[in-house]
Amino acid sequence: MPAGRRSHYCVFCSVTVTTYNLVATSTFGLESVVADELKLLGYTGLKVENGKVSFQGDAHAIARCNIWLRTADRVLIRMAEFAATDFGQLFDRTLAIPWEELIPENGRMHVVGKSVRSTLFSVPDCQSIVKKAVVEAMKRKHRRSWFDESGPTYKIEVALLKDHVTLTVDTSGAGLHKRGYRKAAGEAPIKETLAAGLVLLSRWKPSRILADLFCGSGTIAVEAALIGRNMAPGLNRQFAAERWPHLPEKVWADVRDEARRVSSRDPLAIRASDVDPAVLGTARKNARDAGVSDCITFREVAMEKFTAREKFGCIVCNPPYGERTGETTQVEKLCKNLGHMFTRLDGWSMFVLSAYPHFEKFFGRQADRKRKLYNGTIQCYLYQYFGPIPPKTH
Ligand SMILES: C[S@@+](CC[C@H](N)C(=O)[O-])C[C@H]1O[C@@H](n2cnc3c(N)ncnc32)[C@H](O)[C@@H]1O
Repeated sequence: MPAGRRSHYCVFCSVTVTTYNLVATSTFGLESVVADELKLLGYTGLKVENGKVSFQGDAHAIARCNIWLRTADRVLIRMAEFAATDFGQLFDRTLAIPWEELIPENGRMHVVGKSVRSTLFSVPDCQSIVKKAVVEAMKRKHRRSWFDESGPTYKIEVALLKDHVTLTVDTSGAGLHKRGYRKAAGEAPIKETLAAGLVLLSRWKPSRILADLFCGSGTIAVEAALIGRNMAPGLNRQFAAERWPHLPEKVWADVRDEARRVSSRDPLAIRASDVDPAVLGTARKNARDAGVSDCITFREVAMEKFTAREKFGCIVCNPPYGERTGETTQVEKLCKNLGHMFTRLDGWSMFVLSAYPHFEKFFGRQADRKRKLYNGTIQCYLYQYFGPIPPKTH
């Protein structure tokens, strides 16, 4: 039985059910958040490793995870794992995988790769060996010598780490951060997946206020609104595996129907502000395109002027952290002002993503907890300041 999939006949529904070895990839630092999301979706037996969470699931799971996961980058099918230190081993082990069970005769076999600390270090060579082996496996099965590859895409990744090969097929297509609502962005937008991760890590409850005081293109506010209303982030986009003949269209349609049914139109108190009026225009448009503009209040306000009469709000934000030289003094002043502003708020919590290494010193208080996260390739910390637990009515 191949590592990628296993099939059994279900006597209750009279169909053959195929179980896949699935991998939800994530940015470093968000793995446990992805795992929590998977648990909430009902998946068990999760294996959490650096940058990925492995689990098993059927076609329905592929559709659900693509449509529902907020913090994962992609959903992959793991086809095989093995050791290889020469091209012969790589070819033979790849050839032994029954690719034809997943890839149809007209499938486009696109191979990508990466190699870290491995004997087989030439990525183009590894890609070409894997492509040859996959095509050879298909030739043997279909008894033909040529494939036009005019059909749906199967992006196969050969990943080598210390001579250990992992072969996966990508079910997502464009990364899951591409929800479809953010056509334009400000200067340094964070990925939608990271924004959702910040909101989930803040443990914000929809009954409370959420504020982003440096909202830029509005990503954190929009992701909070999607979470608060239980709206599936991938509802309005397409995925690579939707074009695969082995995954019935009905599975995707059922998951989308269910997602529409379970989302709410409950009012939310999300406040998003920024000093830049131009970027606020973009944020408003993004919120409209995401279908959540009615629950976010956008305002042109400098963080220094932010006040709130209500208690127990939650600030989630990523202020500028001085990417360019000569901006350090400005950033230090901003951190200091943020610290002062926070002391004026009654019972609020604050979660600040910053790459500025001396954030706490200038903010004026050590974080209750810190978490290392990556904003693209930039190492950051999420500085967490917990307010008091609100009474049950909040
Ligand atoms: C790193 S960006 C935020 C990106 C945002 N999370 C997104 O996804 O688009 C920082 C934002 O802070 C805003 N900003 C800078 N100084 C500010 C201040 N004192 N008060 C409010 N906003 C400020 C900038 O205009 C910029 O849009």
